[in-house]
Amino acid sequence: MVFDRDGSGAAGVAAAIQASGGRAISVLGDVRDVKVVKSAVDRAGTEFGGIHILINNAGIYPRASLVEMTGEQWDEVLDINLKGVFHCTRAVAPQMIERRAGKIVNISSVNIHVGAPNFSHYIASKGGVIGFTRALARELGDYNIHVNAVTPGAIQTEAEKRLVAAQGKAGDEAVAAIVARQCLKRRIQPAEIAAVCLFLASDLSDSMTGQTLNADCGNALY
Ligand SMILES: NC(=O)c1ccc[n+]([C@@H]2O[C@H](COP(=O)([O-])OP(=O)(O)OC[C@H]3O[C@@H](n4cnc5c(N)ncnc54)[C@H](O)[C@@H]3O)[C@@H](O)[C@H]2O)c1
Repeated sequence: MVFDRDGSGAAGVAAAIQASGGRAISVLGDVRDVKVVKSAVDRAGTEFGGIHILINNAGIYPRASLVEMTGEQWDEVLDINLKGVFHCTRAVAPQMIERRAGKIVNISSVNIHVGAPNFSHYIASKGGVIGFTRALARELGDYNIHVNAVTPGAIQTEAEKRLVAAQGKAGDEAVAAIVARQCLKRRIQPAEIAAVCLFLASDLSDSMTGQTLNADCGNALY
């Protein structure tokens, strides 16, 4: 199930999964809306017999300096990027607990390691995702539920391209500076992050929980 507030985006992803031979449906909804999230989880039960893997990917990263940032902007980012992860995980966890099996993958950001100006709300939310991941790994381990996080570097997604373009020359320079800092001097493609999620969702990673996998072409080394 592809759950997204962008109906056509979600439908496009579901269509791509179907075209490659998989089963998929798209569901329109906002991760901030508990009732909508719950009804999507119920629908996955009807259509697929339950949710065995949860990837918490929904997120926004609007640029704002600390002094320009309003409380509303801060709340919007935290509500989607952190509370949304709570809502989706809270809605799915009971069936995983009952089944005594589950894989949860939370998408954070390399910026929790390296920092970045003009994204304090975003980086605070993604740091919260790491704390949430570690807490739940301890809490849900007895039920054989694996909870891990991925910290991607700057990925060349459509949203990232829009953010870079909006800054003009400064955006291109910022991307060039990130690439220069990476051990591998190239852009990261979305499929490369999907591959890391696939690993964490599969039994290849059965010995791992509470971990943060850094997929950033060697930007932050720790
Ligand atoms: N692109 C990058 O450089 C980068 C780097 C590190 C981490 N990330 C993280 O990766 C994830 C995906 O980012 P992306 O670059 O693909 O951006 P994107 O905008 O293409 O994807 C984010 C998706 O989340 C959805 N979404 C946003 N708010 C939502 C809400 N309230 N309810 C339901 N769906 C919602 C959007 O519609 C969109 O489809 C985000 O969590 C982002 O923070 C991205």
